[in-house]
This record gives sequence, C-alpha cells and structure tokens, in this order.
Amino acid sequence: MIRSFLFSPGDNEKKMGKASGIGADSVILDLEDSVAESRKSIAREMVSEFLLSETKPTVEYYVRVNPMDSTFCKEDVAKIVPSKPAGIMLPKANGAQDVGVLVNYLDILEAEHDIKPNSTKILPVATETAAAVFTLGEYAGITSRLSGLTWGAEDLGAAVGASVNLQPDKDWTTPYQMVRSLCLFGAHAAEVQAIDTVMADFRDLEQLKKVSDNARQDGFTGKMAIHPAQVPVINVAFSPSLEELEHARAVLALFEENPNAGTLQLDGKMIDKPHIVQASRIIALAEQIAAKNPE
Ligand code: COA
Ligand code: MG
Repeated sequence: MIRSFLFSPGDNEKKMGKASGIGADSVILDLEDSVAESRKSIAREMVSEFLLSETKPTVEYYVRVNPMDSTFCKEDVAKIVPSKPAGIMLPKANGAQDVGVLVNYLDILEAEHDIKPNSTKILPVATETAAAVFTLGEYAGITSRLSGLTWGAEDLGAAVGASVNLQPDKDWTTPYQMVRSLCLFGAHAAEVQAIDTVMADFRDLEQLKKVSDNARQDGFTGKMAIHPAQVPVINVAFSPSLEELEHARAVLALFEENPNAGTLQLDGKMIDKPHIVQASRIIALAEQIAAKNPE
C-alpha cells in the first residue's frame, strides 16, 4: 500500500535526486505538465538515465508520461520502460480503452527488453477529461497491471472552462466533489488503490492534514504530493493511529472470544461483520507499513 506519492519534475536533476530521501513511499518522475514542451525530449533522457542509475531504489518510481493523444506519449513509454520503473502514470486517460492501448505497448516493450511480463504497473489519472468522468466504473478486471486510480481537478477544470474549482473554505466545488467520489468508488470496484489528488497550496499544511484525514476517512488509501513538506503529513494521515489500532484489535479479540456471535457490543456500540472487515483492514495496513519501514 502506497500512502504518499511525491511528484518531481523530470527535467530537474536536483529535485529527482532529493525526492527518494524525503520519506514518500513512491516518487513520480514527471514528463507531463511540469515539463515545458521545449524540454520534453531532454526530460525523457534525464528520467531514463536517472532510473538506470538507481540500482537499488528505496521507493517505487512511477513515471508520468504525456497523454495518449499527444505526440510524446509513445516515445516516452518506449524510452522509459527499458529503465524499469515500477509503473507508468497515464494522465488524461479517457477510460479503460486508453489503458488497454498502454497495456499493448507495455507487453511489447517488456518482451523486447527481457523484462518480467506484466511487471510494469499502470496508474491512470482518471478524471482529467469530460469524457473520462463517464468511464470511472469501467476499470474493473481490465488488467492486472492496474495499481490504482487517481483523479485531478486542474485539467478537468480547464477542459470544461471552469473558472474555479475550490470554494472559499478550500473544499472542492460540487463538480470536483463528484469526480473525487467517482474515482474512490471506481478504484474500489476495480480492487485497486484509491489515490487522492494533489493540494497545490503546498504551504498550508493544516488544510493538507484536514483534507488528507477526510480522504482516508472516505476510503482513499493514499495521496499525491508536490512538495517535500507535504509528505510527512500525508504519511501520518494514511497510517492507522494508535487509537485506531487499539480499537481494531479489541474488535477482533471480542469476536475471537465469541466465535458464534454475529453481533456484539463494544463500549456501548454495536459491532458486526463490517466492523470485522474494517478492523482486519487496519491491522493488515499497519503490518504492511511496519514491514516496509523497519525501526
Ligand atoms: N521533489 C524534490 N525536491 C523538491 C520538490 C519536489 N517535488 N519540491 C521542492 N523540492 C526541494 C527544493 O529543491 C528545495 O531544495 P533545497 O532546500 O535543497 O534548495 C526544497 O525542496 C524547498 O523547496 P521550496 O523552495 O520550498 O520550493 P521551490 O520553490 O523550490 O519549488 C515547486 C516549488 C512547487 C515548484 C516544487 O515543489 C515542485 O517542483 N513541485 C513538483 C511539481 C510537479 O511535479 N508538478 C506536477 C504534478 S501536479
Ligand atoms: Mg495536469
């Protein structure tokens, strides 16, 4: 389970070099919107070289390539896959169909370069075009490469000519609350990670804590970051707290003591099957985090 994904522009050697040491579970090396058109091909070379120099990566590296309908996408994928990133992030995906095309590219490139079949994962940004919004339920079962779904508000806003996407209190306006929810349910329907979008206002860590806590409470499993300062806030928000763990252990212990009970009470509240599912999920997540971050 990846809690935090930190973006780093693919034409910035310094930031790419720093990104893996910040504590993010994953780093996304970007070839898309943070790289100017004039720098696309140099960024592609830089990211490829950078990945090849990381012989023992301590984070999962994803590379955000350019969108499928751009002239850069095919070349990006062809250059990057041989340097073996953990996965490809596909921006402005129009749905499962675009992911299917990327699967074909990856199948061929992995075979050509002696890379384990199906090892390169795919993470689509699944809400960046108006058409994409109507396809969020289509990702289930399309490929075992799919590792998650995430969403973005900036490009969707630009696509529909929206002048704002945040309310004065910094909550999303209604259209973006809707696509956020569709991404959440689409990801769970496909049984992959639901990853919340970036918060551009990177100095406001209090708001970041609030939106990250909300996202986890809603069922998101991780969140993307654009600045190092955002990473620890996200990691804490997407890790079970001590109270949560204690509660989860108490739920499971009570059902173990009462193996034939369907419903019990804990501290005056009813608990039943969904509470067992949620408690098991929290304990599994804590174990995964502990295994990845040995003290
Ligand atoms: N990855 C790695 N290091 C980063 C970083 C990132 N995303 N963002 C900032 N840093 C580093 C800076 O290089 C600086 O390092 P230094 O102290 O050694 O000089 C330090 O963190 C502090 O950075 P700061 O001065 O606060 O910010 P900045 O003005 O350098 O950069 C941004 C601000 C927004 C331009 C930068 O955070 C960034 O490039 N973010 C990623 C953008 C991106 O990829 N967008 C696409 C997805 S939406
Ligand atoms: Mg974008």
